[in-house]
Amino acid sequence: MPAPRKLFIKTYGCQMNVYDSERMAETLAAEGYETTDRQDEADMILLNTCHVREKAAEKVFSELGRLKVLKDAKPDLRIGVAGCVAQAEGAEIIHRAPVVDLVVGPQSYFRLPDMVRAVDGGARVIDTDFPAGDKFAALGARRGGRRAPAAFLTVQEGCDKFCAFCVVPYTRGAEVSRPAAKVIEEARALVEAGVREITLLGQNVNAWHGEMAGGREGGLGELIAALARIDGLDRIRYTTSHPNDMDDALIAAHGAEAKLMPYLHLPVQSGADRVLKAMNRKHTAEHYLRLIERIRAARPDIVLSSDFIVGFPGETDAEFEATMDLVRAVGYGSAYSFRYSPRPGTPAASREELPAEVVAERLYRLQALIDEQARAVQDSMVGREVGVLFERPGRLPGQWVGKSDYLHAVHVEGPDSLKGDLRRVRITASAAHSLAGELLAAA
Ligand code: SAM
Ligand code: SF4
Ligand code: F3S
Repeated sequence: MPAPRKLFIKTYGCQMNVYDSERMAETLAAEGYETTDRQDEADMILLNTCHVREKAAEKVFSELGRLKVLKDAKPDLRIGVAGCVAQAEGAEIIHRAPVVDLVVGPQSYFRLPDMVRAVDGGARVIDTDFPAGDKFAALGARRGGRRAPAAFLTVQEGCDKFCAFCVVPYTRGAEVSRPAAKVIEEARALVEAGVREITLLGQNVNAWHGEMAGGREGGLGELIAALARIDGLDRIRYTTSHPNDMDDALIAAHGAEAKLMPYLHLPVQSGADRVLKAMNRKHTAEHYLRLIERIRAARPDIVLSSDFIVGFPGETDAEFEATMDLVRAVGYGSAYSFRYSPRPGTPAASREELPAEVVAERLYRLQALIDEQARAVQDSMVGREVGVLFERPGRLPGQWVGKSDYLHAVHVEGPDSLKGDLRRVRITASAAHSLAGELLAAA
């Protein structure tokens, strides 16, 4: 048997890319590729890329520049570009970067084995189709073997919302939900492989809908209820959701399903109605705040998170202050804020940009407010008992790190056997980016 070839995948962007990278590795395992975390020993390097902001997309071309040096020294090295930059700029990559052998979009990577064979035959190949049908069905079952205790599972892909700033509807295509039975089957396989926490993924994960057992149509709330019945699966999370797709059943699930963790990422982008309209978000700030009230009524201890875009074209000082007011009204446990980045092909790209220094100052103020809130929520955990799923050893001897129900990193002193355990922990201290705690007796 020939020695396995080594595959190194570098993943940029969102969790869906992390999931796709795993699936690409599994697909290529069948072709004799074994993954490595050492780029220098790789026979194939795949960059799984993100196009959402200019900086993310630029990284790919600078990384390709560095890889050219590697390939000059090792001419047999294969280089591939996958993901959203591949989808958006595939032809340009092939044209601009002769070092690249293969370009594959996020909807067509199930064809990687054929593409790799063509590259072995001396071709340069590009596939950025949006083939009809379920790409996951074409990928087949997940690889066996033991897994880390927390895993991602993509249940929905694509986006039909067309926010004026966003490339995702163009790079990922139309909204598609995977069938409930397939999702449940994959979740069961993950649990059998040692997974105890699953994060359901989708660009608009709460737009998921499908046929449940008995033939009824259901949404994400129903899917979560079905997954919660899997023995051995202890925690369920989902991301990213859109405010307009938070239906009653999903809100109710936050109160009813003990396995659904009390943390929700629900991006609002701005607190000003005129800006939200210009962004084509199709909801107001008031609608969002009422939604948060209903979610908190279902699950009072829920920790909330959001995304914000600062300096969207036309955003006035007063409109930015409305965003600050919304943040104060909600009280977030975490949030991401981004400087607006014009993306080619999106409606907002042709609108006039704000001066960079105005945007920088707003971003600084928003981030300071979010950091203050995040720290307050983290500090409020001290003295409480929380569940923690332990994933890896910490930096100090005898130390373990895991994620709390509320998604905070928690350090404890514990035995080597802690990996993969879900334990009750009393939180004793709050540091800059993590909590410290002590293990309570196992039940
Ligand atoms: N579907 C999700 C939603 O509706 O919130 C997330 C999509 S996007 C992958 C993640 C975040 O990137 C968005 O919530 C938005 O804040 C940010 N983003 C998208 N396009 C952007 C742009 N052109 N400039 C700056 N930030 C952007
Ligand atoms: Fe992008 Fe808007 Fe779709 Fe989210 S809902 S992926 S921000 S277009
Ligand atoms: Fe980036 Fe594509 Fe995800 S653009 S954020 S990798 S969907």
